[in-house]
Amino acid sequence: MSFSYNNHSLHAESVDIADLMANYGSPLYVYSRTDIENNWREFDSAFGQHPHLVCYAVKANSNIAVLNVLAKIGAGFDIVSIGELERVLAAGGQASKCVFSGVAKTHAEIKRGLEVGIRCFNVESSAELDRIEQVASGLNMQAPISIRVNPNVDAKTHPYISTGLKENKFGVDIDDAIELYEQAQRYEFINIQGLDCHIGSQLTDVSPFLDALDKVLDLIAKLNDRGIEIAHLDLGGGVGIRYDDEVTIDIAAYVGEMLKRVGNLEIILEPGRAIVGNAGVFVTKVEFLKQNSDKSFAIIDGAMNDLLRPAFYNAYHQVLPVNDNANGVEASWDLVGPICETGDFLAKDRQLSLSEGDYLAVMSAGAYGFTMSSNYNSRPRVAEVMVADDAHHLIRKRENIQDLFNTEAIIND
Ligand code: LLP
Repeated sequence: MSFSYNNHSLHAESVDIADLMANYGSPLYVYSRTDIENNWREFDSAFGQHPHLVCYAVKANSNIAVLNVLAKIGAGFDIVSIGELERVLAAGGQASKCVFSGVAKTHAEIKRGLEVGIRCFNVESSAELDRIEQVASGLNMQAPISIRVNPNVDAKTHPYISTGLKENKFGVDIDDAIELYEQAQRYEFINIQGLDCHIGSQLTDVSPFLDALDKVLDLIAKLNDRGIEIAHLDLGGGVGIRYDDEVTIDIAAYVGEMLKRVGNLEIILEPGRAIVGNAGVFVTKVEFLKQNSDKSFAIIDGAMNDLLRPAFYNAYHQVLPVNDNANGVEASWDLVGPICETGDFLAKDRQLSLSEGDYLAVMSAGAYGFTMSSNYNSRPRVAEVMVADDAHHLIRKRENIQDLFNTEAIIND
């Protein structure tokens, strides 16, 4: 982990975060290049010589600098929209290493994916399979596909990020999958490549992954019996990270368990959070301290529009003072933003010593932080910086006020 104190000031690699704030302003997302690379390599090296592709899930953090760093070390990408595909290409990623997930791919998205030669479409319904056949036939091209099956296992994670149960909108019921593969096999422009599943996000226990694996391996055997060959198995993303005191999945052990069961089958993984989550922090400034009779509020310049996870999932993020030697007001603080919503908080009941003007680092914010941010309350989206050793680079400019409405128009009448 590249975020640690040096001389009482929190650093990202060798760069003092206080200096970054002075340079780039507040609030700010800060990422560690070394952590991003190490996290991806941990997955990649766990496979050794076994055929595999670790496709980073772009939705977790789609900044082109992040994608570029990963492309340079050989990453593939899991994308869910044409926007993500174009980002990967702009960042120097290879289309042939992209898997295209998502429940509602449009004609335009399928066409572009075929034209640039993506690795595989992860198909989520029979209607989508029809659409891919239709678009591919129009282009006279073969569309590589896998079918996303829903193995009906409980990922035991937050219900909003659990995807592998029958009640979820994702994938094809495992009991209907054979029929859909048979349909795929009859299609002229569909080329069956693999089988795919993704059961949820922020899993901290490996057993749901292994249960899902057993179920899909069973299905692959049945498909083989029917003459349908599966060349790769995509097991999705979902490996959790430590936000608080969670004991997380040992990646080498998980991959080891996987390799014991899969024979020579090529494995694709789609980790997002595990690559970037702990490689980023969101830094915000204390504007005011406000103590009511029974509540202490630190009003900060960051808000739910910048980092939605606490408001949306009641997610916990550790909060560290950038200067850990501060002599402020000691209390149990709620960190609340300027937005007109009671849900606008980044943390609750944190014992901290605070003064106005202090900087606070909201930890583990590299995944689903910036990508879920918005302009709610007409707040410009914040800047992002990537640190590598003692260097720092602005990888996204802070939006300005004009950016907020320069695509809007007044009706002239
Ligand atoms: N593959 C598919 C098909 C997915 O739907 C997802 C995440 C991933 C891979 C990557 O999952 P990961 O390795 O990051 O767990 N906004 C939520 C997380 C939503 C995850 C959606 N799908 C959060 O902030 O916790």
